[in-house]
Amino acid sequence: MQEKIVVPYAPILIESTRSIGYSFEAAVADIIDNSVSAGATEIRICFMSQDPQWLCIEDDGWGMTADELESAMRYGSQSSQNTRRKNDLGRFGLGLKMASLSQCRKVTVLTKKDGTICAACWDLDYIVQQGNWSLKFFAEDEIKCMHGWPWLDMHDSGTVVIWEHFDRLKQGSSKVQKAFDEKIEITRKHVALVFHRFLSDEGPKNRLSIYFNGETVTGIDPFLTKHPATQPLSEQILRIGTEEIHVKPYVLPYLNKMSKKDLNSIGGKDELRQQQGFYIYRSRRLIIWGTWFRLIKQNELGKLARVRVDIPNSLDSVWEIDIKKSTASLPHFIKKNLADIVENTVGRSERVYKYRGRNVQSDNLIHIWNLIDERGKLQYQINRELPILNMLEYHLDEEGSSLLESFIKMMEDAFPYADVYYRMARSEADITETVLDTNDVYAIADQMIQQAISTEANVGVFLKTIDKMDFFKKYPNVIRQIREVYGND
Ligand SMILES: Nc1ncnc2c1ncn2[C@@H]1O[C@H](COP(=O)(O)OP(=O)(O)OP(=O)(O)O)[C@@H](O)[C@H]1O
Ligand SMILES: [Mg+2]
Repeated sequence: MQEKIVVPYAPILIESTRSIGYSFEAAVADIIDNSVSAGATEIRICFMSQDPQWLCIEDDGWGMTADELESAMRYGSQSSQNTRRKNDLGRFGLGLKMASLSQCRKVTVLTKKDGTICAACWDLDYIVQQGNWSLKFFAEDEIKCMHGWPWLDMHDSGTVVIWEHFDRLKQGSSKVQKAFDEKIEITRKHVALVFHRFLSDEGPKNRLSIYFNGETVTGIDPFLTKHPATQPLSEQILRIGTEEIHVKPYVLPYLNKMSKKDLNSIGGKDELRQQQGFYIYRSRRLIIWGTWFRLIKQNELGKLARVRVDIPNSLDSVWEIDIKKSTASLPHFIKKNLADIVENTVGRSERVYKYRGRNVQSDNLIHIWNLIDERGKLQYQINRELPILNMLEYHLDEEGSSLLESFIKMMEDAFPYADVYYRMARSEADITETVLDTNDVYAIADQMIQQAISTEANVGVFLKTIDKMDFFKKYPNVIRQIREVYGND
């Protein structure tokens, strides 16, 4: 037998690994992982969206020596089989390089440890030119001109990762600055969600601050744990060997108990259904969310159910964590336990809906007033799903929505049950159902259709269901007329 050492050809290998499928936000989060693993308490993401775009991720972690930097820049800097520290978010020894170069052609790392600053750079154009794995190093006077130098000068230790030459952004869009800004906005939300447990006051000793061009990132808690109407269910511990998986289900508050801000922070009303499911945290960092791993199907009534699952980094192989740490598969030996927990949690979510929405009228009509059976107590409530109410909300800001909700609650509370009962019992003629002028009714229907058109809502559905709305049902002529006018559009 003979053997030959076959070294991968750097330009081709690096170019291919750029396409592993990192999104911009996942790539930034991967760099932040490294900062968190290095004990950082402050991470600053600085960027310039105008040409020439650049982005820097600065941390005050423990930094690296020149030798450590060289090893960090190597593809496969550490074996994925190594046991890692409990709080280490790394696994494959690849993230720094692959995440960075998936987005840009040049990544420079400046780092400071024991008072010494050093810097190294993978520059794809230089690698292509050299045809080998040439890593650039820099002298002190060169480092002093780099973006991250003032930060390191201010701190005893730390690291700065600089991304430049966003070629993929340029390929994907002619308006590069706009595309860059959009990616930054998505990344801001992504970071606020995936690192929310580091950003919150849960475990103050691990408190982390993240800034985007100087602006603080506030964590997004997908369970609204501080909301008084969130139902936390009891935590369960599953064991794999000596390792523990902590599972804590939550049932979110019913929609009309959430403020617009709460709703937006957890993904918005329309997203709720897709966002139900497991929220898998690896060493407190959210890696996967909004899936039941096929244990059950996502359903409408389960949309308030979210199950927090905490896994340690020592179980990476069992969960088959991928390089981007964005996919994993459910270990078969805990499937059954998780399935039971899911059923219970989704059951509770369904009950929240049933209690809140058990409509005593079962005529399939869209009522303005719903008669709600809340644990045996009957109450008339304004139907919050009324199309006109949703149209109105569209035009209101948060304060306006909150005032509207207060007004509706006051109306519901002040519903004159006793008075109506008394007068009905005496058969007083003047409180029978008011009949509006059909012109007024037509104007209302017409206004709603115009609104649907302007917001690109489905006018066809509106026309089809108009006779299901108890308000319009009383005016068949108006329904006919409006269908004649808009029916063929
Ligand atoms: N901000 C940083 N501060 C200190 N050391 C760092 C920093 N970023 C990277 N390193 C060092 O560089 C090494 C390589 O980082 P890289 O992200 O490529 O791999 P990893 O974090 O070990 O694993 P993974 O591929 O799963 O991210 C890290 O293990 C760490 O030792
Ligand atoms: Mg890493």
